[in-house]
Amino acid sequence: MIRIENLRKTYGKIQALCGIDLHVPAGELFAYLGPNGAGKTTSIRILTGLTRLSAGAAALNGHDIAAQSTAAKRQCGLVPQHVNLDSELTVGENLDLHGRLFGMPAATRRQRIAELLAYVELGDRVHSLVKQLSGGLKRRVMIARALLHNPRILFLDEPTVGLDPAIRRRIWSLIKQIQQQGTTIFLTTHYIEEAEFLADRVAFLDSGRIVAVDSPTALMAGVGHWAVDWVSDAGLQSAYFPSREAAQAAGAARHNGFTLRRVNLEDAFLTLTGKKVATDANAQTVHGQGHGAHAAATRNPTGGQAKKGH
Ligand SMILES: Nc1ncnc2c1ncn2[C@@H]1O[C@H](COP(=O)(O)OP(=O)(O)OP(=O)(O)O)[C@@H](O)[C@H]1O
Ligand SMILES: [Mg+2]
Repeated sequence: MIRIENLRKTYGKIQALCGIDLHVPAGELFAYLGPNGAGKTTSIRILTGLTRLSAGAAALNGHDIAAQSTAAKRQCGLVPQHVNLDSELTVGENLDLHGRLFGMPAATRRQRIAELLAYVELGDRVHSLVKQLSGGLKRRVMIARALLHNPRILFLDEPTVGLDPAIRRRIWSLIKQIQQQGTTIFLTTHYIEEAEFLADRVAFLDSGRIVAVDSPTALMAGVGHWAVDWVSDAGLQSAYFPSREAAQAAGAARHNGFTLRRVNLEDAFLTLTGKKVATDANAQTVHGQGHGAHAAATRNPTGGQAKKGH
């Protein structure tokens, strides 16, 4: 459904994308993760026709984004990273404008707007001015807008940024529902647990290059199964082990306490895109999260889903 071959983008001397190859099959919920400046938004802007690629090729549902740009654009809807609704217009007017841009007839527009606002639970806000909505409601309006023309692919660029945990979870279930109705979803987020919960597969992007692509489970298993966190002069450190026993033994050897817990996708993310410091010979992988991390490493000899240091 999304095919990307050797995609490159340069902005002057900045190489934002250094040759991306990716295939996302129909119906998949794919998470595209990476640190700030990794090239996530640039990739999405190229795929949705907002920015030109410098080299390489990409196609959406078989339509080349350069040679068949209009057909390719029809395949996708976009929820951009920054809110770009017209705040002086109402919710309904914003959606209607989008429908007109896609050449939808008036009756179809009216029907789809009503359907989609009901779907994102904003049926009673059609006449509200966008500037009077909270951040979470605006995000839901943007999701409704992106779905208005029935796209096969939905690009979501940090759809839950800045939202409280309850609203974030409502948007998660909305994203799952959209996937269940057959839409292919391409998601970026800095909330790694969001990708762990939602995604069928995950790509880690770093400095314009893909460093890993796999299911969340496989990426986590590549790091280890159990983690030990502790605080040293260098900040919060973590080491990963294949078994709980090995992790427990390594933690017990530390004098200032430790936290024992299961490996999560954030560990895989930090290991594959961050700094590694090899300080524990028995660990499968070790990394530090930099100086100055305030980590009250909690001794937790019983293990299990332990509290993380904070
Ligand atoms: N219009 C532009 N002009 C010049 N450089 C740009 C432009 N847009 C992006 N860049 C640069 O390209 C690189 C990738 O940026 P991009 O916005 O794709 O990152 P990102 O992964 O989305 O980051 P974030 O997580 O902060 O949103 C960065 O170095 C950025 O400064
Ligand atoms: Mg971005």
